[in-house]
Amino acid sequence: MYNCALLKFKDIASHDGHLSSIEEKIDVPFKIKRVYYITGVGQEAERGFHAHKKLQQVLICLNGSIKIRIKNPIEEETVQLNNPATGLYIGPLVWHEMFDFTKESVLLVVASEHYAEEDYLRDYNHYLNESKPFFG
Ligand code: TYD
Repeated sequence: MYNCALLKFKDIASHDGHLSSIEEKIDVPFKIKRVYYITGVGQEAERGFHAHKKLQQVLICLNGSIKIRIKNPIEEETVQLNNPATGLYIGPLVWHEMFDFTKESVLLVVASEHYAEEDYLRDYNHYLNESKPFFG
């Protein structure tokens, strides 16, 4: 789907557990300027409901399971993240909504830019207008 991809990270598994690493410009296609994480989300809660003008991010579910609805004016898909060695790349102009967080789920996000509220498109109609030139 436009500006989205599932990424597979190395998973070094042994009887003592799993180790994955994320290196900028190698495992994710950008330089990492920010890392944030989301925890303690109730099972009925939904987050996101925005797109970004410039920001690139990779979402990784470190524990439990989380669903991400990704959409643009012409496509829509739901991805379930439940493997710490898998990341969902979300580039600019992808509307995304996160839901069905399981109890104790942990979402880690690596991002290409510092936090900037002016990069957000939080109103869906505004997002549709902004993205029209890219989707015809
Ligand atoms: P938001 O990106 O809307 O979260 P979500 O998409 O998961 O619902 O951010 C929620 C609040 O946190 C908002 O007030 C902005 C703030 N925030 C930061 O201060 N720094 C950050 O890196 C992020 C991602 C959010």
